[in-house]
Amino acid sequence: MITAIRDIKQKIKDFRTNSLTIGFVPTMGALHEGHLSLVHQAKKENDRVVVSIFVNPLQFGRNEDFSKYPRTLERDCELLSGVGADVVFQPEPSEMYPPGFCTTVAVERLEEKLCGKSRPGHFRGVAVVVLKLLHLVSPDIAYFGQKDFQQTVVIKRMVSDLCVDVAIKVLPIIRDARGLALSSRNAYLSETEKVDALCLYQSLTKAQSMVKSGVFNARKIIMEMEKIICAGRSASIDYISIVHPETLEDTPEARSGNVVAVAVRIGKTRLIDNIILS
Ligand code: PAJ
Repeated sequence: MITAIRDIKQKIKDFRTNSLTIGFVPTMGALHEGHLSLVHQAKKENDRVVVSIFVNPLQFGRNEDFSKYPRTLERDCELLSGVGADVVFQPEPSEMYPPGFCTTVAVERLEEKLCGKSRPGHFRGVAVVVLKLLHLVSPDIAYFGQKDFQQTVVIKRMVSDLCVDVAIKVLPIIRDARGLALSSRNAYLSETEKVDALCLYQSLTKAQSMVKSGVFNARKIIMEMEKIICAGRSASIDYISIVHPETLEDTPEARSGNVVAVAVRIGKTRLIDNIILS
């Protein structure tokens, strides 16, 4: 495991001297099969795979769960060695953000949509840490999950706007047997909340089946989704949106390729999920 910026730079230099290709999977740890699916794919497509584990303080709001975010470093390292990750980069916040650090990265407009409304500043925190990590690791390919759909849109835009020399790959959402999207934050849910949380995926599959049966009106679809989510005792809706996959603008007519995205509070836990309409 590498914790110092100096050491990760040296490691990357060694890889490059040996003409090895590098795949990169940034994470905040508390790893599950969703994260590991990214590492598996990175292993297939690159000579070496670097995984970062960094609970990034800049992407948490003041009243959010930074301090109680699950930290399971030992287990994470075991899982990563099990799937053949070559390097784990696990810096301290003081290493990434030394005193005086004051740079941010604003991916304007996109950062304000969807989750940006209830999490102001979140995507600036994501963009600045991802840009810094991409700069340090300089991978050929970086891997992200569709689970955080808006994050992938923001990162793709940033990489394109700033000519960062990396390919961004987005991989499908890994779910449990009942459809709940795997998330480190599922650890906060009680058993009954886990059952209530199934409403996210149920509402998304409802949207997909309505479109398949010829209902395209976004308002109608969203109303049906609301009914499903509101049936859950502990659920309250943050947003339900049907958006264009690149601009994240709401669309009045749901069509193939549009993204249905939801954020729902189950008790005190805010969960997100989405589906790309086909
Ligand atoms: P984290 O939530 O740890 O997620 C790391 C990566 O795993 C992200 O690309 C995320 O979309 C992906 N992922 C999470 N759950 C998944 C699932 N069920 N199926 C497939 N992929 C899944 O996202 C972050 O960390 C941070 O914002 C980060 C990019 C590391 C910047 O701090």
